Amino acid sequence: MAGQERARVLVLHGPNLNLLGQREPEIYGATTLAEIDAKLVQLGQELGVEVETYQSNLEGELVTKVQHARGRYAALIINAGAYTHTSIALLDALLAVGLPVVEVHLSNLYKREPFRHHSYIARAAVGQICGFGVESYLLGLRAAVGLINKA
Ligand code: DQA
Repeated sequence: MAGQERARVLVLHGPNLNLLGQREPEIYGATTLAEIDAKLVQLGQELGVEVETYQSNLEGELVTKVQHARGRYAALIINAGAYTHTSIALLDALLAVGLPVVEVHLSNLYKREPFRHHSYIARAAVGQICGFGVESYLLGLRAAVGLINKA
């Protein structure tokens, strides 16, 4: 499609997700974050969107990245890691940015410790996908593209 820019999707990974592959593989699997990012970029190409990914262990950096997403991306996918369960700041940033948000998690939060059952992020998300391992991200991208195409 000459002259037509592809919509951009930002995928945000929160704390400790840089350790995927070595971190509790019985829960999170053996796939590294770099491999997940590559799968997302490839699926994005197939679905006709440009995928950018970003990981940070710092809450403020994630908040800033969300703030800067306005006008630059058509949708956000976020696995906020443990900030899912603690961060009102991230919730507020997601609400402020006014983009469609898809929340994803590798593990099924509701099968785990009670403190993981509550997500602050969920209030800002169109929906949540959890429990499918790496596939959660890919399903999340399909959902985000569906939202972009509908808008
Ligand atoms: C996680 C679940 C969170 O509870 C945890 O703190 C993570 C990863 C997941 O992808 O399953 O860091 O978001």
